[in-house]
Amino acid sequence: MTNISITNSKNNVGAYINDIDLQKLDQSKAEEIKKALNQFGVIFIKKQNLDPESYQNFAKSIGQPVVYPRLKGLNEKFPFINVIERKPDDKNLSFGSSWLHQDTSYLANDRPRYTMLMGIEIPDGQGNTIFSSGFNAYEKLPNEIKDKIKDATGIFSSAGPISITRLEREKEMGIKSSESMEAEHPIVKTVNGKKTLYVSPGHLMKIKSVKEEEADYLKNYLIEHVNKEEFIFSYEWSKGDICLWDNLSILHMASEIKNCRRIMHRITIK
Ligand SMILES: [Fe+2]
Repeated sequence: MTNISITNSKNNVGAYINDIDLQKLDQSKAEEIKKALNQFGVIFIKKQNLDPESYQNFAKSIGQPVVYPRLKGLNEKFPFINVIERKPDDKNLSFGSSWLHQDTSYLANDRPRYTMLMGIEIPDGQGNTIFSSGFNAYEKLPNEIKDKIKDATGIFSSAGPISITRLEREKEMGIKSSESMEAEHPIVKTVNGKKTLYVSPGHLMKIKSVKEEEADYLKNYLIEHVNKEEFIFSYEWSKGDICLWDNLSILHMASEIKNCRRIMHRITIK
């Protein structure tokens, strides 16, 4: 029996969890939320405005928060909360924009599975986060393609097309860029008993374990497929909203922000 209220979002890309105050989270609600997260891939919880302590505690109810080395922590007390700030005069591409991706797909082992954002300062009418459902995209693939990719793997690299947004960010922060990382993973995964596409276009370099002459065609086909309007939900933020997604089943990207400030608090969870 469920004791939380859930509404599907547009195109069934994830779900809203309604009428909940995460400041007063109990064990049974936390379990229901985690179940919904695994089932829907991404959950949206409006207007929570959590203090750092409650926000970090909510993350801990989902899994183990991890320190994300490329982004700065809020402070010593809250090392797991990364501040993602877009300043009005920033001219670079937004961090994580322009390419759908699945966070840290270039790590071989111990990949953090979930990413969570809370809106701290939200500009009007800009900076939506775009989600694509790997579950829905897989389901709608023609059987012929499903068959061709059933044993396929992808080579994912931190130097893939999205890396330009990271390199710009690192330059801004004065960090010396680290060496690129590369990993190979199956591109069809099963989450919660359902198959999903793991193709992270921002990191995908090559598809393997398919006919060599079809590798490029399949890569382009799948990238175009997950970008189709029917699998997309563009989430419009309000201050205090929380989005929490499973990187195995959901792809995401930031959209452009111009001439205004936006601050998000991010926690990465294993
Ligand atoms: Fe991302």
